[in-house]
Amino acid sequence: MQHLIRTSDFSKDEILELFSDARDFLDFQSNEILKGKIIVTLFFENSTRTRSSFEIAAKRLGAEIVSLDVGTSSTNKGETIFDTVANINAMKPDAIIVRHSDCGLPESLTKFVDCPIVNAGDGKHSHPTQALLDLFTIFEHFDGQTDGKKIAIVGDVRSSRVAGSNRRLLPRFGIDVNLVAPDCFKYDGDEYKQFNNINDIIDDLDIIMSLRTQLERHSEIYFESLNDYAKDYCITEEVMGDRNILLLHPGPVNRNVDISDEMLKDPRNKILEQVTNGVAIRMAVLKKLVK
Ligand code: NCD
Repeated sequence: MQHLIRTSDFSKDEILELFSDARDFLDFQSNEILKGKIIVTLFFENSTRTRSSFEIAAKRLGAEIVSLDVGTSSTNKGETIFDTVANINAMKPDAIIVRHSDCGLPESLTKFVDCPIVNAGDGKHSHPTQALLDLFTIFEHFDGQTDGKKIAIVGDVRSSRVAGSNRRLLPRFGIDVNLVAPDCFKYDGDEYKQFNNINDIIDDLDIIMSLRTQLERHSEIYFESLNDYAKDYCITEEVMGDRNILLLHPGPVNRNVDISDEMLKDPRNKILEQVTNGVAIRMAVLKKLVK
């Protein structure tokens, strides 16, 4: 049995196999690969895209979904999350998909279950299926020729789990990761090139991944208003010029803070393609883990 806690849980070959399955699933035909299976989703943090994406993926594969309403769950009655999950596990589901604000929580839960745990985002740490769908989108865009491509991940790289998973995953496929952020959002490490201003590297870039400012994870207020941040970090037509750069964002997008209205209409942005690919990648992940 295999869990998905971080992208390094899968080898490069396993990831390429996922991509091959995801490509097949992009016809969005429902099938019976997981017929009779029951998958539980347990989201302790808000989610629109990721939760519905997992649920649609599971249903496309013929599985049943049980979504626990954690707002009214037993954790509000004093039960620990470990006991809650041990109880759910005792009902013998075929997988549990978890999102939680604590880094490392999905990994700790693996000791309490005998079905696969899929991490749908743990605090600032990881969001493996998001990084896999981002890489898949890049991979398909460049016909598999990712080696030597340059990406700038722009914005709150310190607090974003999407940035965390991507900066670890993309270099395994030869992608050169550059981080662009104001000092207060800089990543605390020296494995990557870091820049204050996107204009310093824009001419070398193949891909820009813009991020949402993770206000809910900050203990201090760094900017008077998001408009102050947007002046330097919003991806606009002026920043992009006529360069042939693939523009990505994991969503939810703060319009005119992360990306301008015009760039959201520009065909260089593949944000909705990422969302579509997300369902196909999650189908491939569930097919692999749920037997
Ligand atoms: C992200 C998340 O929740 O980590 N969204 C997503 O899953 N697509 C990014 C964010 O919240 O900014």
